[in-house]
Amino acid sequence: MAQDSIESVLRENRSFPPPSAFTAGARLKPEDLKALRDKAAADHVGFWADLAREEIDWHEPFTQALDDSEAPFFKWFADGKLNVAYNCLDRHLETRGDKTALIFEGDEGDVEHISYRELHARVCRFANALKAKGIGKGDRVVIYMPNGPHAVVAMLACARIGAIHSVVFGGFSAPSLKDRIEDAQARMLITADGNYRGGKAVPLKEVADKALADGCDSIETVIVHKRGGLDVRMQDGRDIWWTDAEAGQGDDCEPEWVEAEHPLFILYTSGSTGKPKGIQHSSAGYLLGSIVTNKWVMDLQENDVHWCTADVGWITGHTYITYGPTAIGATQVVFEGVPTYPEGDRFWKMVDEHKVSVFYTAPTAIRALMKLGEELPERHSLDSLRLLGTVGEPINPEAWMWYHRVIGKERCPIVDTWWQTETGAQMIAPIPGVTATKPGSCTHALPGIAADIVDESGESVTESDKGGYLVIKEPWPSMLRTIWGDPDRYKQTYFGKFGDRVYVAGDAAERDDEGYFRILGRIDDVVNVSGHRLGTMEVESALVAHSAVAEAAVVSRPHEVKGEAIIAFVILKGDSGAEGLAEELRGWVAEQLGAIAKPEEIRFADGLPKTRSGKIMRRLLRSVARGEEITQDTSTLENPQILEQLQTSGH
Ligand code: WTA
Repeated sequence: MAQDSIESVLRENRSFPPPSAFTAGARLKPEDLKALRDKAAADHVGFWADLAREEIDWHEPFTQALDDSEAPFFKWFADGKLNVAYNCLDRHLETRGDKTALIFEGDEGDVEHISYRELHARVCRFANALKAKGIGKGDRVVIYMPNGPHAVVAMLACARIGAIHSVVFGGFSAPSLKDRIEDAQARMLITADGNYRGGKAVPLKEVADKALADGCDSIETVIVHKRGGLDVRMQDGRDIWWTDAEAGQGDDCEPEWVEAEHPLFILYTSGSTGKPKGIQHSSAGYLLGSIVTNKWVMDLQENDVHWCTADVGWITGHTYITYGPTAIGATQVVFEGVPTYPEGDRFWKMVDEHKVSVFYTAPTAIRALMKLGEELPERHSLDSLRLLGTVGEPINPEAWMWYHRVIGKERCPIVDTWWQTETGAQMIAPIPGVTATKPGSCTHALPGIAADIVDESGESVTESDKGGYLVIKEPWPSMLRTIWGDPDRYKQTYFGKFGDRVYVAGDAAERDDEGYFRILGRIDDVVNVSGHRLGTMEVESALVAHSAVAEAAVVSRPHEVKGEAIIAFVILKGDSGAEGLAEELRGWVAEQLGAIAKPEEIRFADGLPKTRSGKIMRRLLRSVARGEEITQDTSTLENPQILEQLQTSGH
């Protein structure tokens, strides 16, 4: 057993029932959730089909809900036709035309309110501009832009004409952009001169020019939005300013009615090895996942002001900025900048100024802001908040408690939402008016999501606190459809282990005795000490629970006796690097989790290698801990210089 399953050593006894005032106003009450769960359990496919009929405006209705004849290449609602942009915009014009769709705040604090009517007009105008450049259904368009309304407009304009967008986060380098353009064989690139983030100029066109300089032959047109006032070179016959492309275009554009399975977008995810995977999503199924999770989990309602701090370059920005909130007619904040500019209270200042009620961010941001102290959030009223969310990484219980106490004032439920680029929408998450939450747990699978934990042989792990592979045992509408251009890799990566129906997420997870899920980290990051397999998240959480520690990352190194030994990289709060602290922390972990989890070595550092979406790259730390040369691709690192520092810091 010890070889097969993952042992969980972290115990969490705190539980927070939803505040009754929250439940009273929530979309889903306990009886609603029960009805949804009962229905999903009785008829998985029928459950989703009914929701698809209720939540989506169809141009032509579908007759078959799920086609699983070519599993794992599933099709949902395949003979129906719709347009996603129509669902996000046109259907609100009569009832919510003047309602604010986007509240944009720029890096320097400039603010713009955009109504649904205005957003609709902008999307139509730009869609017409794309058509005038010869872009049509099925063409790939790469969007490499700053976070803001123009990026949202570009995405929705593609959706309107059936073009397939691939958004590449503005922090990616020229080679990364080039790889993505070439893999998708994109005909058009939409970019900007550049912009300012945290007061620093981020050139985009210049980087794009480098990407296009050798290769990228499929690109015919580059549309450039003027945002940063940076000098750029425009290539005759290829490059055109956004405003020139739009000149003379009308504010109406008949939507292209596409089949439900028509690809809405591709989004590249780096994964832990090999070249990035172009995750391909569908139109209707993806839209449905976006809509229901924004209702069930984010609880977005007519008067809410939603703020998802992600960039549209990530899946979180796709589902919880561009598509989901607009599809249900919500008002939301879109932010160009960073949480620490001009000061570390930027998020809290904006929450106050825009009266944000639903706030969704990442654990990495919470840990960074926690490190800056409570004085910053205390400068502002956070009274408008009613719901908080997190996504992207396991949230350590201490960070969860800080978020709960200092930001939510013990009044706001926290939805810790587990999902992936591949799943399209949230999968395991609390229903905020119903579920009692526990720090560090994403709680239970949503209705219609067949999540389970299995061992090496594919058997469900029923014992509490034993971990295993997180899997989804039935297809769901918002799942990825394939890897762009590489169906074999799709099949192998996600369905290679337990057969064509069982999606393997690549994460390790466990359930406690009340069935609460806890994500232990990526399965590849699990460490094996004396035959005990431990998730990295648990040791990291124990370290973060120590008053001197801001952040921690845990990896292993081969060990003669134990098989593997735990090495912890620790970032301290302030300069509290007291003599003997390493020893103290080792003892602290042993006390919290047991001797088995005691780190062999603690290394202090100023930072951790992170992806640009804020995830710790443990595989790089593993090389550092083992004294190996780093051969992996580091081009997607947010802070490459930190590796050098870590390598030379030694013992
Ligand atoms: C991790 C982000 C623990 C997980 C939407 C997953 C999480 C990967 C959580 C996907 C969470 C995401 N708790 N871990 N609430 N949310 N993860 O594709 O390892 O950027 O597989 O999608 O992030 O990251 P991606």
